[in-house]
Amino acid sequence: MKPHVFIDRTIPDEVKTYLIEHCTLDLWEEEDTIPRDQLYKRLNTADGYITSGRRIDAALLAEAPKLKGVSTITVGYNHFDIEAMKERGVLGTHTPEVLDETVADLVFSLMLGSARRVAELDQYIRAGQWKRSDGENLYGVDVHHAKLGIIGMGRIGESVARRAIFGFEMEVQYHNRSRKIEAEQKYGVTYAELDELLAHNDFVVMLTPLTDATKGMIGKRELGLMKSSAIFINVSRGATIDEAALIDALREGSIGGAGLDVFLQEPLPKDHPLLALPNVLLLPHIGSATVKTRDEMAMVAARNLVAVLQGKQPRYLVPEFAI
Ligand code: DGY
Repeated sequence: MKPHVFIDRTIPDEVKTYLIEHCTLDLWEEEDTIPRDQLYKRLNTADGYITSGRRIDAALLAEAPKLKGVSTITVGYNHFDIEAMKERGVLGTHTPEVLDETVADLVFSLMLGSARRVAELDQYIRAGQWKRSDGENLYGVDVHHAKLGIIGMGRIGESVARRAIFGFEMEVQYHNRSRKIEAEQKYGVTYAELDELLAHNDFVVMLTPLTDATKGMIGKRELGLMKSSAIFINVSRGATIDEAALIDALREGSIGGAGLDVFLQEPLPKDHPLLALPNVLLLPHIGSATVKTRDEMAMVAARNLVAVLQGKQPRYLVPEFAI
């Protein structure tokens, strides 16, 4: 008998066709996130689960007695309670690599959009405020030839560094758990301690995965080290920074601006204080969201799960599950 798989979002037809060859499918294709009680009901008979951010914890696993694998259509897997999954013998897979260049493009969208105030000035025209073109009130700051600090130098960090150095002739520093000698030699990026990186650069880009070690890594003290003109970009996870401290820094003007794709609470509530600040550019967690990349990620996730359900080694097993 084919294994049974539940998928809590829409997936491309090609991915469905592939999955149907190997599994029976149950899909949630509504626009709203599946409510918890309905999710638990659907998982009751599932051998595999494809999601893109649902928290996988002991409570969920208790409702899914047959579950063998959870495949997330994301590179980040901080929504996996690894210990709980290991205890139940449920494997987790994710989708790195395929999204690197797309997320790097998004980092640059946030850098350029914040520096040149793209969204703010679009609103300015729509509000009928465009009276003259050369007003200083329209000025931004340069990205080309500026100094860029990257926190978290994985594959995406390297893709950002490549764009920065070869496309924008920027000077690039990075901070990472371990030195990336190959990247240093290949691109001319230099390693810096966190405090030095924060103080030195015009743009600081946060790309670390969310782990116990990176939770709240950037707080009041760290933001206080940044230049008053510097722009802070977060494309990692909301919880890697102290959001309240960032809001204070943006309000007080102790940093120049921010570009954010990730937040502590997603979707961002309608009354969130960030929405009232003009010097922050906000995106709804769309780092990897191009049609091509998301379709490819869905296929990678499907292949990962089929491998798990067939007792084979999936291409992208989350490293913590490797024996
Ligand atoms: C991921 O895949 O983890 C990204 O945050 C998606 O944009």
